[in-house]
Amino acid sequence: MTSIQSVLQETRIFPPPAEVVARATVSGMAAYEALCREAEADYEGFWARLAREHLSWKRPFDEVLDESRVPFYKWFADGDLNVSYNCLDRNVEAGLGEKTAIIFEADDGKVTKVTYRELLARTIAFANALKSQGIAKGDRVVIYMPMSIEGVVAMQACARIGAIHSVVFGGFSAKSLQERIQDAGAVAVITADEQCRGGKTMPLKPAVDEGIAMGGCESIRCVIVYRRTGGPCRMLAGRDLWWHELIANQPETCEPEWVEAEHPLFLLYTSGSTGKPKGVQHSSAGYLLHAVITMKWVFDIRPEDVFWCTADIGWVTGHTYIAYGPLACGATEIIFEGIPTWPDAGRFWKLIQDHKVSIFYTAPTAIRSLIKAGPELPRQYDLSSLRILGSVGEPINPEAWMWYYTEVGGSRCPVLDTFWQTETGGHMIAPLPGATPLVPGSCTLPLPGIQAAVVDENGNELPWGEGGSLVVKKPWPGMLRTIWGDPERFVKSYYPIEFGGRLYLAGDGAVRDAKTGYFTIMGRIDDVLNVSGHRMGTMEIESALVANPLVAEAAVVGRPDDLTGEAICAFVVLKGERPQGAAAEQMATQLREWVGKEIGPIAKPRDIRFGDNLPKTRSGKIMRRLLRQLARGEDVAQDVSTLENPAILEQLKAGV
Ligand code: PRX
Repeated sequence: MTSIQSVLQETRIFPPPAEVVARATVSGMAAYEALCREAEADYEGFWARLAREHLSWKRPFDEVLDESRVPFYKWFADGDLNVSYNCLDRNVEAGLGEKTAIIFEADDGKVTKVTYRELLARTIAFANALKSQGIAKGDRVVIYMPMSIEGVVAMQACARIGAIHSVVFGGFSAKSLQERIQDAGAVAVITADEQCRGGKTMPLKPAVDEGIAMGGCESIRCVIVYRRTGGPCRMLAGRDLWWHELIANQPETCEPEWVEAEHPLFLLYTSGSTGKPKGVQHSSAGYLLHAVITMKWVFDIRPEDVFWCTADIGWVTGHTYIAYGPLACGATEIIFEGIPTWPDAGRFWKLIQDHKVSIFYTAPTAIRSLIKAGPELPRQYDLSSLRILGSVGEPINPEAWMWYYTEVGGSRCPVLDTFWQTETGGHMIAPLPGATPLVPGSCTLPLPGIQAAVVDENGNELPWGEGGSLVVKKPWPGMLRTIWGDPERFVKSYYPIEFGGRLYLAGDGAVRDAKTGYFTIMGRIDDVLNVSGHRMGTMEIESALVANPLVAEAAVVGRPDDLTGEAICAFVVLKGERPQGAAAEQMATQLREWVGKEIGPIAKPRDIRFGDNLPKTRSGKIMRRLLRQLARGEDVAQDVSTLENPAILEQLKAGV
């Protein structure tokens, strides 16, 4: 990434403003350090204390951490609770029934508010609707929904009855949806007729029909359709049911299904360096604890806050910081259906102004594209309600950090660069607004109880200042429990033998500042790309390309991009002749569309270059290092001696 160099040379330090320190949950560096010391002195005692203070248990736990089957850790295993109870009922019982839980702003600007009491009633109705279809504890339910109150209700209702949801981002194709339904063995899909974004409506339900028709989805018993637009929507008799018909006349109560702490709350499919996306499995109690504790430590959430996380519920950020964390804290949050650039690039700023947002959490890609679209736009809005700004999903370059800090936050609001992953459940390395001095481009220090480190290829901890592999030395409550249906892959991917089987391998490179120990994340060190904060495996895209009957071979690499972080570059060998000029452009367009259908529009390669072959070693291995250099437009003159076919480089240099 171009920004890494500037990050490593960053010397600006922003101490937390006195008024933030004075009111913060974790106030001052000494308080942060005290929490870290507490965790170090008695690791289990620390997490047990938090789990007792922050979660409501039906049956209290005695066991804290069970390490009898490493790395299949268990937390609080003999306790029972219900996640939806913790997010809804307990707030109503605590007198927050009339507090606004969700402010929904539709694409067209229409605003709908629901209180905690209403959200609970809606969740109960839908939970009973699910039950009426025979859906029960442990069943998997795929949710393929636009950003909506109903999307969150669907997730909460699953949690209420102990069904395991798997949300699939609405931008994924029918094929991706089918693969996830099949892998999860889902019994139902919850979807909408259409979705609205940027002034347009797009059908959603047809992708479900198409996906199920591809086969392998025999486990599906019903498809529940939320009517978003009322546009044309084909319903299959005996399988498809309207949401509004199903919730009518449901009983007004629904006893939560009290589940064991380790009961899976959800699966979320994410990309790895090999094979198909994997179903990351999260627990109920440990996950929720991580969500709640980070809402408090990192976002410093307070009763009067208006919290807005701009992520989609199809990603983990939308799970932890929309569907669960804010609700479990009794907060008021925004759900936004639209896009940041419609009707113009001031949409985010207008939303912050209109709803008096105090905590704003978004991705560097969004920040960078809004800088490009109108660096002065934030000044046209009243953003004085803002208190805390957050960033997630990819490294934030210091230039974007500074703009966010000065132009959006008026140099008053701490900018929190939060590092975490689908697998980690919630924030891992992040500043605390009332404690940690900020350095642009650094996610600063691990949260209390999170033992992050940088190690070499043998798993030995490196001195500060030396770059290596990011690991976590101890299990933590919010971590993934396994890969759905593939425990071996879980062990191989995250607890490799090379690292002694006891270090959690994040898959990212990192370096700690030689003086402060602050972490800077240097990007993935495996074959995973991060495009606009969306995670994608190069192998997935390669498989999609070679599935095209015209393609003989394909290799995919990333190259740095100022706007999207990374851009996808594909090197393709066709079965027929190598296309050139206009024919190459046409073929590239065709292949992009193909990948869009195989995976989803987010996986479409930016560059596609055609060759008669790919650069390979004599043993036939594709030399990706050279492809990466070619993609970046770098000179590949050095060390091509091991290359079987050096002439190919010249050909591949000329891109489309
Ligand atoms: O490479 C890191 C990057 O995003 C990856 C995780 O992607 P995903 O599971 O989709 O979750 C994204 C939202 C939590 C990481 O392995 N990443 C995430 N946050 C940061 C980051 N890279 C640098 N800085 C961050 N703050």
